[in-house]
Amino acid sequence: MLNIFKDKAAASKAAAELFVEKSKEAIAASGKFTVALTGGSSPAGMYELLLTEYKEQVDWEKIYVFWCDERWVPISDDRSNAGNAYKDLLNKVDIPESQIFPMWKDDVTPEAYAEAYEAIMDEVLEDGKTFDLIFLGMGDDGHTASLFPGESIIHETEKRVAAYFLKPQDMYRITLTAPVLNAAKNVAFIAFGEKKAPALYEVLKGVPNVEQYPSQIVKPDSGEAIWLVDEAAAAKL
Ligand code: 6PG
Repeated sequence: MLNIFKDKAAASKAAAELFVEKSKEAIAASGKFTVALTGGSSPAGMYELLLTEYKEQVDWEKIYVFWCDERWVPISDDRSNAGNAYKDLLNKVDIPESQIFPMWKDDVTPEAYAEAYEAIMDEVLEDGKTFDLIFLGMGDDGHTASLFPGESIIHETEKRVAAYFLKPQDMYRITLTAPVLNAAKNVAFIAFGEKKAPALYEVLKGVPNVEQYPSQIVKPDSGEAIWLVDEAAAAKL
């Protein structure tokens, strides 16, 4: 479902409202809300609104926070998705620390931690893979999570969480894989700005080519992905 908003602020508001709505639904149904966050700059506006206008509407103590992907760097590193989410949101709300699961740990290999992350998912998620809500960003090249163009990780079907060395960036990445992204009850992409316009066109309207535009691999089993984009990103649609 494609939702185009005038600007980033309006799209961020819709993302915050989606967070509130899906958290209420999940908590009413099961007593908790499991969410996987995206990295990148796109969720910042949503976080700001969740801390202000919407703060009282969320039952923070019942939230379980995961990530879609991570650069294999310590949380104190500026490039850490978890670190940024702590700074922008998690340090300022009452989610018990034991319910927050960064995709990084000291003194283990990324591969070992990918397995450990699956074990955490087994404990928290009913069937080990179905999140209530997953937020995804989309890179200017059409990647999502750490599923990058041309990388075999795009086609991973056995592992739910995988770590691999991403040569062009000279670093390890750890990511939820396509089967998990597609198992979620709700999947929302947030993407802003004119630089995303060419890839957004290819992902939504171009010929199927997941190798080049990995975001195309996201086809939730539960129905359509929700796209929250601004007019600039939608300019070529
Ligand atoms: C990350 C994610 C990536 C991100 C997109 C969009 O950077 O951690 O791997 O998938 O969500 O690159 O990034 P922006 O939100 O900064 O545009």
